[in-house]
Amino acid sequence: MTVANESTVSTAATPPAHVPLTDPIELPCGQLIPNRLAKTALSECLGDPAGAPGERIVKLYEQWSHPGGCGLMITGNVMIDRRHFGEPGNIAVEDDRDIALLQRWVAAGKAGGNKLWMQLNHPGRQASTVCSCTAHTVT
Ligand SMILES: Cc1cc2nc3c(=O)[nH]c(=O)nc-3n(C[C@H](O)[C@H](O)[C@H](O)COP(=O)(O)O)c2cc1C
Repeated sequence: MTVANESTVSTAATPPAHVPLTDPIELPCGQLIPNRLAKTALSECLGDPAGAPGERIVKLYEQWSHPGGCGLMITGNVMIDRRHFGEPGNIAVEDDRDIALLQRWVAAGKAGGNKLWMQLNHPGRQASTVCSCTAHTVT
């Protein structure tokens, strides 16, 4: 029989005092994150003018995701409509034209069992007039 002690039992109200950052964590949604390091959403702006990802975003996620790196990486805003970009350099996913590079980006982020969550975005009235097809006016 296994007897739990204070260091192994936790509730939301009383988390254990010391949890190594290298310990995995299971989120309430069921996702198992291999360690306690997470990278928040950060608009990388490493896409080309057409919104394609490239070598630079693959290399960046390879570095963040190396063994012992971030267990969870939330991407920067990824546009769902190429006509409306939030910022120059945004990556867009609208169809499968960039599937090979997208797969390499995902593979880089998921190396070693890490999780990569893509933040999908439509900037709405915050779309940049510099890099979007349509000028936006507020009436
Ligand atoms: C340069 C930069 C880019 C960011 N890009 C995004 C983004 O694409 N999506 C998002 O939800 N938040 C974005 N954020 C917000 C961060 O994810 C984070 O919520 C914010 O920096 C507050 O966290 P902090 O208090 O640890 O700095 C960005 C922040 C910075 C500084």
